[in-house]
Amino acid sequence: MNIATNEIILPYLELISNSSLKEKCIALYNHHKKAIYYAPAGASHHHSFIGGWATHTTEVIALAISMYDMLISSNVKLPFDKDDVILVSFIHDLEKIDRYVLTTDDWKKKKGIMWEVREGLETMDDSARVVAMVAHFDIHLNDMQISAISCHHGGFSTRLSSVFSYVGSMNKLGVLLHSADLMSGFILGRK
Ligand SMILES: [Fe+2]
Repeated sequence: MNIATNEIILPYLELISNSSLKEKCIALYNHHKKAIYYAPAGASHHHSFIGGWATHTTEVIALAISMYDMLISSNVKLPFDKDDVILVSFIHDLEKIDRYVLTTDDWKKKKGIMWEVREGLETMDDSARVVAMVAHFDIHLNDMQISAISCHHGGFSTRLSSVFSYVGSMNKLGVLLHSADLMSGFILGRK
């Protein structure tokens, strides 16, 4: 996919069947819309362009839904539903919407790196910030959802990723999210 166009995420939020959750997700989306359609998904690894966050998130939601549908049509019993899949896919990188600023470092620019981490960010686990950000919109995640978001990098953790972000203890929602994130980040999001 190319640079995000406006509102590409909204149609997926409209698919949430729980009307209360849908309303809260759309309120969060509308509140952060400017940042959502500006932020990159990363400084250099993947989707590192303006609008990259929205493009990556849309890909993750779409991939996760199609994998979920495939599993359900294969009669696999899952301890979560499609609303869980859409929710965790939508918010899995929410802490990144204000993490990066365009770099002024000429050396980085020459290397093709557009972004740097914004100064003043408190050091914390990524998923802790996601939990706090969604709580502002009265979205209170359960343990399975938090674990899936914490572990979504699987074995591809970085220093800034969750300390729990390794393959061994992922729940099934985390495996699905990680698979979608991996496909988007490593296949669709790289030139
Ligand atoms: Fe991601």
